[in-house]
Amino acid sequence: MCGIIGYSGPLEAETILLDGLSQLEYRGYDSAGIAFFDTASNIRLIKRTGKVAALREACDLEKAGSHCGIGHTRWATHGGVTDANAHPHRAGRVTLIHNGIIENYHDLTEKFGLEGRLASQTDSEVAAHVLDSFYNGDPKAAIKSLTQCVEGSYGFCIMFDDRPGEIYGVRRVSPLVAAYTRSGALIASDLTALIPYTRKYFVVPEDHIVKLTGYKIALYDINGNPVSPQIMEVNWNMDSAMKNGFPHFMLKEIHEQPEALKNTILPRISKGLPDFSDDGIDDSLFAECDRIHMVACGTAMYAGMVARALMEPVLRIPVTVTIASEFRYADPLIDQRTLVIIISQSGETIDTLAALRLAKSYGSKTLAIVNVKGSTIARESDFVLYTHAGPEIAVASTKAYSVQLAALYMIGCRMALVRGKFTDKEASSFLLGLLDAVPAMEAMIARKEEEKNLVTHLINQPDAFFMGRGLDYAFSLEGALKLKEISYIHAEACAAGELKHGTIALIASNVPVIAIATQEHVFAKMISNVREVKARGAFVILLTKENAVVDGGLADIHIRIPDIDDRFTVFPIAVILQLIAYYASLGKNLDVDQPRNLAKSVTVE
Ligand code: M6R
Repeated sequence: MCGIIGYSGPLEAETILLDGLSQLEYRGYDSAGIAFFDTASNIRLIKRTGKVAALREACDLEKAGSHCGIGHTRWATHGGVTDANAHPHRAGRVTLIHNGIIENYHDLTEKFGLEGRLASQTDSEVAAHVLDSFYNGDPKAAIKSLTQCVEGSYGFCIMFDDRPGEIYGVRRVSPLVAAYTRSGALIASDLTALIPYTRKYFVVPEDHIVKLTGYKIALYDINGNPVSPQIMEVNWNMDSAMKNGFPHFMLKEIHEQPEALKNTILPRISKGLPDFSDDGIDDSLFAECDRIHMVACGTAMYAGMVARALMEPVLRIPVTVTIASEFRYADPLIDQRTLVIIISQSGETIDTLAALRLAKSYGSKTLAIVNVKGSTIARESDFVLYTHAGPEIAVASTKAYSVQLAALYMIGCRMALVRGKFTDKEASSFLLGLLDAVPAMEAMIARKEEEKNLVTHLINQPDAFFMGRGLDYAFSLEGALKLKEISYIHAEACAAGELKHGTIALIASNVPVIAIATQEHVFAKMISNVREVKARGAFVILLTKENAVVDGGLADIHIRIPDIDDRFTVFPIAVILQLIAYYASLGKNLDVDQPRNLAKSVTVE
């Protein structure tokens, strides 16, 4: 979850590290620190609790003159948020930063006699001491020994006192990408930190050692044999990682959704039908399976819930969605005839990755829907369908959700076609319906002031309830997650028919209920449920299609979306739910893009 950056080259290292950490801050923002070789080739270390801005203030950039250093922004796992626990950590001749969790740190503390010698409460400092005890002037040999005794996940960037200008990296599970650029050599936990310098990069393979110097990057296997890195190219640009005039990344990313949707859908339409040949996905993948199992976390999992509600009735095969952290420790009912669809924006979520590995061990075919090119999940899955949302920086996922849905909808359409559940004409009209979602989203974005006004009531309430039936229920789940994660209002989603089985006990005067009623076949039932909560004093925010006929007085606020096919209403509805959360967070003066306790990529368990 933490952000990592390392630089060696002709430019001023401190500035590059601080800028890189600002780019990576969404990965963790409890504390930040840098270490660098100063002009006398001694390692200097500066770290602070709080955000990168606090670290920047602590750095005396006027006196800077370094050309090699490492930087870290932390999401606390082992040990509280203190200066001592901030990275980098020093032990003897070793200075390192770490992303991940060393699971056997306790055993290592005992084995290496570290009790009483540690300055912090972190597992990372233990690793620094262990590495120092192995170091006898040969960095690669010491790193190899370290990897042989640590258990868990890690991305390490390391400097040794007696190797000025050099940075070493090694990883297991936790991501590290590196690039040699005209500005020097860079390594980071995330592509976004490399984009200002290059679009060409490589993923540091697991259990390999990378060495950065000012004039080159070298990759070695764990035994020290040189290996050629596999260079990849990303089509993101600097603009896509900047706010570009928007006050927050989240608002910018909400606005980017129509474009992201087109970028994900249009290249995959051929002769009016969905076509994945450019993705290397053959129809046999869709024909030769008896069931679909989707696995993901958070928003990505909720995208799966929408797709399940859409696909199962059409495909007439079991479609299951499981939370990755549950799936990985279960004995899931999957086999060689199961298509396991793994959904992840980052492609690095640790539970989702473990679920992918488990699914493969059961012989299932795996198809990953991923946004970040070259990420671990993308590389390890049998097949990958990239979404083209560009970098998503705000912790609250918005555009990634929409493009995940678009990708899943297209998969569902292709499967229906291949399995004889859709004729060409039906598939074609489905795609046209999907494309109608683009202007519908644009329309809702253009009307964003409506949501701005409606949160006045919401922000003074401790709780909020979302409800819907069928697809609308699946949309509610994401609406509740969005609201709670950035406004800290307790929010819960309820299948409207379930209300009377418990949740309605919580509905009292002025309790906000966001009722989604866009599905024609259950519209009347849904409206009855709205009446039930209204009768108990709820403050009802009702979302329907333009043509819905609703009694006056039923809703305190009524928002209408364009009249599109019921199957695609999730797209304009998602915009409304995202904007409600956004304005609620803003109205409470909270940190919209970096909500407390969260980080963008959950790379530890
Ligand atoms: O990168 P992933 O899609 O695997 O991330 C999964 C979740 O951590 C993520 O969707 C999270 O729930 C969102 N930040 C919520 O907005």
